[in-house]
Amino acid sequence: MNSILKRLTFLAIVFVTIFSSCETEKETDGPYFGNGFHNGWADQTSIVIWTRLTQNPEGNAGGTEFISISSKEENDLDKEGDAAKIHAAQIPEGLTLDDMIGACPGAIGEVKLVYYPLTNSENKTETEWVAVDNDKNFTTQWKLENLTADTKYVVQIEARLDEKSKVSDNIEGAFRTPPTETGEDDIEFCVVTCHDYIRKDTTDGHKIYSAMMDLFPDFYVHTGDIEYYDKPDPWAMTEELMRFKWDRLFAMPLQRNFWSQVTTYYMKDDHDALKNDAWPGMKYGPVTWDRGLEIFDKEQFPSHDKFYKTVRWGKDLQIWITEGRNYRSHNDMEDGPGKSIYGPEQKAWLYKTLKESDATFKVVINANPILGPDRKNKRDNYANEGFQTEGDEIREFLNQFDNVYLCNGDRHWQYVTNPEGTNLWEFSCGAGSDVHAGGWSQEDERPQHRFLRVKGGFLRGHVSRESGSPTLTFQHIDVDGNIVHEEVFAK
Ligand SMILES: [Fe+2]
Repeated sequence: MNSILKRLTFLAIVFVTIFSSCETEKETDGPYFGNGFHNGWADQTSIVIWTRLTQNPEGNAGGTEFISISSKEENDLDKEGDAAKIHAAQIPEGLTLDDMIGACPGAIGEVKLVYYPLTNSENKTETEWVAVDNDKNFTTQWKLENLTADTKYVVQIEARLDEKSKVSDNIEGAFRTPPTETGEDDIEFCVVTCHDYIRKDTTDGHKIYSAMMDLFPDFYVHTGDIEYYDKPDPWAMTEELMRFKWDRLFAMPLQRNFWSQVTTYYMKDDHDALKNDAWPGMKYGPVTWDRGLEIFDKEQFPSHDKFYKTVRWGKDLQIWITEGRNYRSHNDMEDGPGKSIYGPEQKAWLYKTLKESDATFKVVINANPILGPDRKNKRDNYANEGFQTEGDEIREFLNQFDNVYLCNGDRHWQYVTNPEGTNLWEFSCGAGSDVHAGGWSQEDERPQHRFLRVKGGFLRGHVSRESGSPTLTFQHIDVDGNIVHEEVFAK
């Protein structure tokens, strides 16, 4: 679909969304769609849609600030693991989480989903009304199957309290399915990482979402650290606080609008699994590792039977979405054969599918870097000494290809790395806001760096045959949408 048509579609959908929500906000007591809806794991024939019912149409912008506590207090509370103490230390006496700034509490009720191809509105598929799951933070999910490839779909969801009630809210948005391996149309995508509520750069959310909405990519990948449990106001050391942070983030208008319009792949990383550099078996406060994974993988984001996937996006592009937390060894294990991040099964799948693919460009999207460089004191990723054995093996494997490109999140600075004499390229998208950027010195430009910028923004990829032969363009973009670096690869 060309960009003008994409824009017109978007404007039409936004109009309907705004019109609908204004109407319902005045006329009903809810439940509402304060968290919008998300999609995930799209391929040519299927996608997962997620939504949540809320007591209010918006987050509680006038809520009370949390009591700020020090890192030492956080550390002590984490060790003690007492949920009541964790809450008492951060929530003023007499108040509940619903009173706190940004709160978007859940609501019981029922939802119904309708979807249809944009150019064929007669061909509607309508689900039954279904109650949201109170035990899963008032969320529900649908897996839509038998979709048509390379098609823009409109999604409409209605809410009601129960079968005796009128519709209390409705939302409308869209997604598109990928083209098959024969599709030659341009494909645009964006990659982001690392943002949270406390480091947003407007009251409505992160500016990158405005900039990306202007580009209206065909799909977008969030490489994880979508929120940070282990950052203050509040330190989310209980399940209730973890959910609070998701509810608050999902209510931010810039994010909410983007996520309801664009095909999305959500990945997770340490801060939204549990805490910094987390690995299997850890706890945060009373929350276990398994529970942390369950909240992300099964409740707060579109679910999938596996946590990694490869998707063809036309003749010239195939993407790999990898999983970097679920299968990893303990970070403090001595490096050597057997110490892994991907885990043996995922690694075998990655190697096999990369070899089998005949896509012109192969883009492997990882939460964490494989090339780096990264700081000497880190021991959490393949660019660190702690995982050097498997890292070297993977780098050697990837070097046989001249059409594999790595993208990563996690690091809070933008870079392009291409070690001299290798086929290896890595693009770090950078943190989601300037205030969130850091962790590397702008002066510390190494020989393998083709580009280095210690600021926020995102990465844009563009596959095109406009010049007659296929090209893949990567652009680093700042938080306001300005291009700050570009690399073009032609085949
Ligand atoms: Fe991060």
